[in-house]
Amino acid sequence: MERETTEFPQGSEAATVDLPPNPVLREALINGTVRHPDGTAISVVANINIPNSLALYRTIRERRPELVVEIGMAYGVSTLSILTALDENNHGRLISIDPYVGWPTGRLVALNQVERAGYSDRHEHRHEFSYTALPALIMNHTTPDLVYIDGNHNFDYAFVDCFLADKLLPVRGVMAFNDAGWRSVFKVIRFLNRYRRYREMDVGLPVKYASRNPLFSMIKRLEGRSSNDRYFEKVEDWEPSGDTMNIPGP
Ligand SMILES: C[S@@+](CC[C@H](N)C(=O)[O-])C[C@H]1O[C@@H](n2cnc3c(N)ncnc32)[C@H](O)[C@@H]1O
Repeated sequence: MERETTEFPQGSEAATVDLPPNPVLREALINGTVRHPDGTAISVVANINIPNSLALYRTIRERRPELVVEIGMAYGVSTLSILTALDENNHGRLISIDPYVGWPTGRLVALNQVERAGYSDRHEHRHEFSYTALPALIMNHTTPDLVYIDGNHNFDYAFVDCFLADKLLPVRGVMAFNDAGWRSVFKVIRFLNRYRRYREMDVGLPVKYASRNPLFSMIKRLEGRSSNDRYFEKVEDWEPSGDTMNIPGP
């Protein structure tokens, strides 16, 4: 399929910001618009921001994954950040999981964005919840090299995403979290750090504690609860031993 090119006005911000080389993604990040298949421009919502998009793009470029899984596609900004890098690598594919409950337009627009960019061949959308899609991937022995978690941010859902992503990832695989400053997601990250064997990666994102309320900023700083995306590389597989499962010995 022929790729769509989007013209930005001369001297516009798009011409100056060093973003992934994809006009469809740049249009979403800079102009804040995505397109419905009927051509209507729609304001992008719920998307990852420019620094997080760039970090995701750079990480995929550097690590050259064979397979990436993302949880939470929305209008496809993280999706295009990943796919642009895979396409530049000329290697790898992406599975995006999103049930789009009560939001059929979201799905239409996201898939249209992928098609406009010319990446449909590298992409598969699983139209379901992560808590059913991830076990199916485990059952199929699918081993992604990177899992990007940006679905339901409630603690229980984010925790299940993290738990199952850990089961999918091989050693050296990467688990990344958007909205890492949310208390619920932060708790999940604390679990990962305490009870699994991962090391945090430096993907070029500074820690960010800024909040509109100075008191909240101070609390975030004290807790080490940075808002930027956080990336973790799996060091070792870990399963609880018999004694932690309360199984009597032989
Ligand atoms: C914050 S948005 C994702 C934004 C997207 N990563 C981007 O950069 O544009 C969250 C998405 O998660 C989806 N979602 C909600 N619950 C989910 C679940 N249990 N499994 C997978 N996706 C879910 C929502 O439909 C929504 O599209």
